[in-house]
Amino acid sequence: MDYLLNLNWSDFLQHYWQKRPVVLKSGFKNFVDPISADELAGLAMENEVDSRLVSHHNGRWQVAHGPFESYDHLGENNWSLLVQAVNHWHEPSSALMQPFRQLPDWRVDDLMISFSVPGGGVGPHIDQYDVFIIQGSGRRRWRVGENLPLKQHCPHPDLLQVAPFEAIIDEELAPGDILYIPPNFPHEGDSLENSLNYSVGLRAPNGRELLSSYADHILEQELGSERYRDADLQPRRQAAEILPHEVDKLRQMIIDLVQQPEHFTHWLGEFISQPRHELDVAPPEPPYQCDEVHQLLLAGERLQRLGGLRVLSIGEQLFVNGEKINAHHQHGSEQLCQHWVISADQLADALHDLPFLSTLTELINSGYWYFKD
Ligand code: SIN
Ligand code: CO
Repeated sequence: MDYLLNLNWSDFLQHYWQKRPVVLKSGFKNFVDPISADELAGLAMENEVDSRLVSHHNGRWQVAHGPFESYDHLGENNWSLLVQAVNHWHEPSSALMQPFRQLPDWRVDDLMISFSVPGGGVGPHIDQYDVFIIQGSGRRRWRVGENLPLKQHCPHPDLLQVAPFEAIIDEELAPGDILYIPPNFPHEGDSLENSLNYSVGLRAPNGRELLSSYADHILEQELGSERYRDADLQPRRQAAEILPHEVDKLRQMIIDLVQQPEHFTHWLGEFISQPRHELDVAPPEPPYQCDEVHQLLLAGERLQRLGGLRVLSIGEQLFVNGEKINAHHQHGSEQLCQHWVISADQLADALHDLPFLSTLTELINSGYWYFKD
């Protein structure tokens, strides 16, 4: 199903994106859930799927982690089932990510879906990432506060909450409404009836993650072997002192390693195209041959991108699932980046380019694209 988002993106980016929370009333008109509560509960029974149950009774919070074997112990109130990266496991749900492609793909992370009974929610908290929370079936009251420093505490070792806050948004969301929350604005959702919520989560690395991953790349590629040299060394007053120009020179050695455009781009593409949750990869058995792929596409078959697969480009370089791919064909590479479903028409002459076809066949045999029907 195609989801049409009723949003003026320029206005939204200018006034709200990373700045202010906002409720986008009827963002999706006549919203239809892509998944049922039962299907969601079924997914949370799978080993590979990351899920949790959060409940509270008389101010005592409980958190349990999936996979779950049964839900028989749950009452009718005060619990919520949260399932991460559902777009990786449930193809119809991944359609909800499409309307958000006005934002760069590399900034978008995954789709978390929650099912909450009346009184259910994870309590007041802050998130480090922007999020669009779409209200599916049911009604839920959302409160959002100002991004002021708030004390955090753990009412359960796996649950980080904040102190009560004053609301700048306090609204009951109905199906199709969307709540956008930038990072660090405290919020809490309290279900008024059985309720499905879809969180399109963003991704933003911090400097620590970037530096640590780039350092790994330096080690793997055995870069930075040149040692510090000081042929111009002068006698000094204090043997214990490291002089300012020496500090600068040492710092510059680090900067020089980062300022190697080719290495930096290669690392960045691989780093940022890695998914943060497992993918549902199922390589075809037996693997396809190039001419079969060619024939199937010519016969009108279409290729579907695996849910959650990150396909990104930097300049003319293509990165898929943490790997630099030599696509051999610029137009073909662009089509892989742009579309989630690919047909022979879109590939045009790339389809008849043997090196590209061979790369495409490898990608299909890795389970990253599959024939749709
Ligand atoms: C939810 O309960 O569906 C969303 C949780 C959150 O606010 O991050
Ligand atoms: Co949140």
